Amino acid sequence: MKNSIGDDFQQLTRYFRDQLPGGYLDMANRPYPFKEYPKAKKIRLEAPKEPQKALSLAQTLAARSSIRRFSPKALDKETFSFLVWATAGIRGLAQGHAFRTAPSAGALYPVETYLAISRVEGIEPGIYHYNVKEHSLEQLAAGDFGRAVAKAALDQRMCLSSAVTFIFSAIFFRSKWKYRQRAYRYIYLDAGHMGQNLALAATSMGLGTCAIGAIYDDEANAILDLDGKEESVIYMTVCGHPAGSGDDRDD
Ligand SMILES: Cc1cc2nc3c(=O)[nH]c(=O)nc-3n(C[C@H](O)[C@H](O)[C@H](O)COP(=O)(O)O)c2cc1C
Repeated sequence: MKNSIGDDFQQLTRYFRDQLPGGYLDMANRPYPFKEYPKAKKIRLEAPKEPQKALSLAQTLAARSSIRRFSPKALDKETFSFLVWATAGIRGLAQGHAFRTAPSAGALYPVETYLAISRVEGIEPGIYHYNVKEHSLEQLAAGDFGRAVAKAALDQRMCLSSAVTFIFSAIFFRSKWKYRQRAYRYIYLDAGHMGQNLALAATSMGLGTCAIGAIYDDEANAILDLDGKEESVIYMTVCGHPAGSGDDRDD
């Protein structure tokens, strides 16, 4: 890899006044922002409901910190449904768009959400894709993938004890369709917003999360059967009931 590729990217994707990339938007090829696995077994999630005992926003902001060790306690399905919605769900319809809980540049929504579930009440352990439009899960594989996910996350042990690990991928063309190479700036920002929605929603319900950027890309893509070019894993977040306290970082 060219060792200045990041510096080059930052410089080459700058916007200049009066030199904005023009051209028309190819509306006929506007990307559809909802991936689906039509043949997969579906698990309907209940309508997301704000938990009664949630912390206030100020309490949540003060309480959030990265949690890297989790208790064996499972997440209940209601809490899980709310977490997934808070991360990637639809908040409302307007002007022909389904707007989501996290902002997205151009409302193009390039980030997909997958879940490696180990302990959620009523849901078999396995790998799932979140069907945003239906607020449902699509099962891609059965079994506990904690070990495989931990390996793909540079052997970070927190993925072994998490109740669920959110795995975020990007379908790059959805954003490149409009923003070309500058899209990469926005795609990673979009994912960050989703990760923070997840962290705050989880913290407000007494759960813990830790973001993970340290990923062996090809290994993570293999778990989800992604090609790594059109769609690639870009980010993860572990989540569960916190175990104990103190600085238990392992990065
Ligand atoms: C983009 C991003 C990637 C991160 N990747 C990792 C990681 O791979 N492993 C890890 O243990 N922590 C990771 N973290 C968590 C940071 O280490 C943590 O947020 C930071 O130390 C500040 O602590 P706090 O989150 O408790 O406030 C990541 C955080 C972000 C935002």
